[in-house]
This record gives sequence, structure tokens and C-alpha cells, in this order.
Amino acid sequence: MDDCLKRLERRFLNMYPIKLLSPDVLESEGIEVCDELYENLCNLLSYQKEQDTVFKHYILDDTSSTCISLKESRNIISQGTTGLHSWQAAQALADWCLSHSEELRDKEVLELGSGVGLTGITTVLCCELRSYSFSDCHAAVLSTLCENVLLNLSTPNDKDCHRFVDNVTKTTDNTLLRIKHKNTDVAVMNLPWADVTKNTVTEVDFVLAADVVYDSSTFTELCQALKNLLHYQKTVAIIACTVRDQNTLQQFLHTLAQYEIKIVQIDVPSTRPTHFLLPQDMLVNIYRLQSSGQ
Ligand SMILES: C[S@@+](CC[C@H](N)C(=O)[O-])C[C@H]1O[C@@H](n2cnc3c(N)ncnc32)[C@H](O)[C@@H]1O
Repeated sequence: MDDCLKRLERRFLNMYPIKLLSPDVLESEGIEVCDELYENLCNLLSYQKEQDTVFKHYILDDTSSTCISLKESRNIISQGTTGLHSWQAAQALADWCLSHSEELRDKEVLELGSGVGLTGITTVLCCELRSYSFSDCHAAVLSTLCENVLLNLSTPNDKDCHRFVDNVTKTTDNTLLRIKHKNTDVAVMNLPWADVTKNTVTEVDFVLAADVVYDSSTFTELCQALKNLLHYQKTVAIIACTVRDQNTLQQFLHTLAQYEIKIVQIDVPSTRPTHFLLPQDMLVNIYRLQSSGQ
């Protein structure tokens, strides 16, 4: 019965958007609004919230037509984070990885601020990596990330891993999930940038990050984390930054330079090659970073 009612409510909502039914609008036209209508409106609004989480399917525009299904939020901010939604920079970075699959072959990769996992899942599926470690710091993001990694990269034998997903906030170890996808070791880690010291992370070949440059109050810890990761001679970082505000981006580049990090902007053709069938409406700059001590 409940299900039936919800389905009817959904049809009703689609026919009459909430804004049109708003008691404010009715009251402004001198119509008295009864309590029952207010109560039902609140129920409908909270029911709408449940629908914020959707499964999006990304089909790669290449010969493989690989399909990636991600649980993510329809809203760009939800549960106090931007990490439950896939951003355009994640696609741009995945595109970079797909067109550098030879360079990435058999390499160890750590991703910072993975969000719901678009870049990493694409890269693990399409490049023959030795290992890929996803990371983030927000409990709801990590939980969704684990679900998406299991959904796209696990085999039936990984079923036991679900207990990690359920315990995302309770674990003391910062590795929340470990599975193998073909020959690639895949991990999901709870890794706030402030915790990235020379001792906490092992040497990797590549550090990846997409759309982590938007809040200048985090630049110091992000740059310090990058400095610690790039301390190893062989490590290179590839960072995809959406250009929303030139000043913020310049401030980040300036902070990076203070940490003795060499920055090279990767030349991306104006008609960026993309493997995703989605509009690319914002400019995304990609930078290659290395310690300037090398
Ligand atoms: C705009 S989202 C980008 C997510 C994903 N990379 C993408 O492009 O779709 C930024 C991500 O960085 C993560 N983040 C922000 N501050 C962080 C910190 N101090 N340590 C670790 N992750 C952080 C957020 O939780 C969020 O998932």
C-alpha cells in the first residue's frame, strides 16, 4: 500500500511541481491553507530527498563501449560535501589516463579526493595498472565510493568485502576495502590530506586528483600532501582543475610553487578528445607536477 501511495505521489509531483503547490503562493493569493496540506507537503518534500541518490551510467565512446555505473547524488552538494557527485574534471582526468595507458601500464597509482570514483574506476577498467588506491576523507563519500568500486570492479568472490562498506566510519585502519581486479590491486582508503606524511604513504608512480582545487583554505594541506608524495624521485602527480575562478587557481599554483613543486600545464587541444558521451562545458586545466629538486 505504502509503495502504491509513493508511486502515486511521485506521479502527482511530476505533474505539479512543488513550487506551484507552495502554501506561500496559495496564501499570497488569499487562499487559506489547511494543516493537512502542510503536513502532506512536508512528507512529499522529504520523499523527494530520498530520490537524490541515483545510478548514473557512463558509456565510454571507444571501441570497448565500457559501461561504468555509479551511485551518486543528483545534487552538486549533498550531506555537506561536493564529493557525492561526479565532476567534469573527473572525466577530463579519466580521458588523460585513457590516452596515456601505455605510460600507466603496470604502475602504482594513488588518487586524492576520489569522490564517487569515476576517474579511478575508468582507469582500472581500461589501463593495466599494478595498483590503484582511491582515497577521500568524508564518511558518506567513502561509503559510496566503496559501493561503486565493488559494483564495477569486484568479482563474486569479493562478496565478503561488504562488511568493510558497512564499517566505513568504524574502522581504525585507514584501508576500508581491498580487492583485486584482474591483475590490479585495488584499495579504498580514508586519507585526509593532512594525514599524508612521508611515513604514512608508500612510494607510488602516479598521484592523481580531479577537482580538488576550489577552496583556498585547504591549499596548504593539499600542497603539503603533494610535496610529501612527490618527495620520491619517480613520483609524478597529474591534477585536473576546473577553471571556475582564475584567482583561486592562480593562488593554488602560487602555493604549490612555494612548496618547491615544478608545475607544467599539459597542452590539451581546444577540442579535447573525450571518451565520455557528455557535454564538456567548462574549461579544465591539467597539470603535471614533480618535485623541483629533480
Ligand atoms: C569536488 S569533489 C571531486 C570529487 C572527484 N574527484 C570528482 O572530480 O568527481 C572534491 C573531493 O575532495 C574531497 N576532499 C576535500 N577535502 C579533502 C581533504 N582534506 N582530504 C581528503 N579529501 C578531501 C572531498 O571529500 C570530495 O570528495
